[in-house]
Amino acid sequence: MDTRAKKRAAAEAALRYVEDDMVLGIGTGSTVDEFIGALGASRLRLRGAVASSNATSARLKAAGIPELDLNSAGDLPLYVDGADQATPQGALIKGGGGALTREKIVAAASVRFVCIIDDGKLVDVLGAFPLPIEVIPMARSYVARRVVALGGEPVWRQDVVTDNGNVILDVHNLRIEDPVELEARIDAIAGVVTVGLFARRGADELLIAGDDGVRRITTATP
Ligand code: 5RP
Repeated sequence: MDTRAKKRAAAEAALRYVEDDMVLGIGTGSTVDEFIGALGASRLRLRGAVASSNATSARLKAAGIPELDLNSAGDLPLYVDGADQATPQGALIKGGGGALTREKIVAAASVRFVCIIDDGKLVDVLGAFPLPIEVIPMARSYVARRVVALGGEPVWRQDVVTDNGNVILDVHNLRIEDPVELEARIDAIAGVVTVGLFARRGADELLIAGDDGVRRITTATP
């Protein structure tokens, strides 16, 4: 099975968590695009969805799914999103698509986070995928120096401006043994908006698509 087919399989498996009349939080990326497509093709009728990016807003609109504002939606029962890497404990690297800040907000406001990935993204130790950090533009060089002091090699994602008007540093050469601790350390650097480590609030369930079907790992007490 190719990667696209695995993404679709993981996305379709997430439909079983969705109920009629729900308000869903929805992430960003090609796996999530498969999920939105599957939702649109299903008989499920959502009350609405909160999008984690402008790209996802456009996809929801095309699928005929009403979009709600998080400020009026309140806490959400379910957030579905992809990831760039995941550990079996539910810690994630996210932000390859640049939407990490709104993704982290919607994940935080959700009771349950179901993460849909293909099996190539499941790792024991995070860090081979460069860790994205969204940064206030004037702090770019300062944050980069602080990240070097932590042992990383930051690379400015040039020509990318996030939905929030900020820039992204992708940090290479990290071996993240303690994701909760590193998330807190990077969060504490002035000028950092969001680090793409989702460890303090990681995924509650991983749906991992491989050649033999979709495997589920529950990382939290449901
Ligand atoms: C976007 C993300 C995505 O979830 C992540 O990049 C995975 O994307 P894809 O499903 O296209 O592989 O964090 O900011």
